[in-house]
Amino acid sequence: MDHFLYRDGQLHAEDVPVSEIARAVGTPVYIYSEATLLRHFRLFDEALSGMDHLVCFAMKSNSNQAVLKLLADAGAGMDVVSGGEYARARAAGVPGERIVFSGVGKTEAEMRQALEGGIRQFNIESEPEMALLSGVAESMGKVAPVTIRINPDVDARTHEKIATGKSENKFGIPISRASAVFAEAAALPGLEVVGIDVHIGSQLVELEPFEQAYTKVAELTRQLRAEGHDIRRLDLGGGLGIPYTRSNEVPPLPQDYGDMVRRTLGHLDCEIEIEPGRLIAGNAGILVSSVIYLKSGEGRDFLIVDAAMNDLLRPSMYGAYHDIVPLIEPSSDTPLAPIDIVGPVCESGDTFAKQRPMPPLASGDLVAFRSAGAYGAVMSSEYNTRPLIPEVLVRGDQFAVIRPRPTYDDIINRDKLPEWL
Ligand code: LLP
Repeated sequence: MDHFLYRDGQLHAEDVPVSEIARAVGTPVYIYSEATLLRHFRLFDEALSGMDHLVCFAMKSNSNQAVLKLLADAGAGMDVVSGGEYARARAAGVPGERIVFSGVGKTEAEMRQALEGGIRQFNIESEPEMALLSGVAESMGKVAPVTIRINPDVDARTHEKIATGKSENKFGIPISRASAVFAEAAALPGLEVVGIDVHIGSQLVELEPFEQAYTKVAELTRQLRAEGHDIRRLDLGGGLGIPYTRSNEVPPLPQDYGDMVRRTLGHLDCEIEIEPGRLIAGNAGILVSSVIYLKSGEGRDFLIVDAAMNDLLRPSMYGAYHDIVPLIEPSSDTPLAPIDIVGPVCESGDTFAKQRPMPPLASGDLVAFRSAGAYGAVMSSEYNTRPLIPEVLVRGDQFAVIRPRPTYDDIINRDKLPEWL
């Protein structure tokens, strides 16, 4: 459930008509609903109640300072994957003991930064990383808390570009080698092994792959404990999917996910961490865009809008589906006609939807791309020198710009001429 609903024939973000924001801020613009973000965070938090747990928001999905602060104030931790994300989390007031550091390519500088600023744990992905971290921690007179990410070789049954739990993927260490690698880690003086980490992919629409992976984690916990490791923390990753289409099957609810976690891992008396990104932020955001032209082609029509692939990359990168709806609610008997919805960028890949049934729209009309709150703004670029688009946060009947649109001068002045030009 989200808070972008038609009211009196107009799409609203909570209590604000979306057209009012578009008028004040211009298009394209990302709009987030605070109530939806909080609702989704709390759903997870409650789903895990009764177990010692921490929900660490995967901030790669949406890393605006306002979003981070809102969630951190509600009690969320953060899952970071770079020094930049670590700095953003700290700037938003997240204490180090609520930050977990994931990723296959942590650099020495990033390790130092997190050890200095405080960290709950590093989720280690390889033996070379383990050796480097131990050395860095030792040189700083510290001991780094770590979990080791195992690759359970489970098919997440999602898009191949966002599946991470099969043996051919670059993530984690093969579960078959876990025993040896944990022993190696335990022998390193700069590390303290606190648990196991697993993340099998994103936009999972079934519980079964999670359950398969977590069952393997439960078995591994027993085995590693028998081998003398004090396994007390399990980081279960993120990945629970969201409904992108109204008609599609509905992905499992956080409550069902929580029940499954309790069933598979609850008896182990471990602290549970989860790292949801999309489920918290995805349906808490929309991208609002204006129709520039309606163009008739040979055998097909094109709706050219002012948002493009640089603003919302998912359709051209993954063939992802986003619902696209007019801001003025069409009546139930409005005829729909198929149309290609495209952006202004000079590539055919700059296509949001092909032959999408849409109500009649004209130049100047506004549309909203739904489910754009996760992996939207964070994946945007200034390709074609199109300024990064602004982000707006809504609370009830108020809204605030939480990232302004840069001016052309802002963009140009980032470049520097060498002295010989
Ligand atoms: N934890 C780890 C270690 C991850 O790699 C990810 C996502 C998450 C948590 C959060 O997963 P979520 O709950 O959001 O599914 N750009 C792609 C998604 C990439 C996901 C990468 N890792 C997209 O737009 O679909």
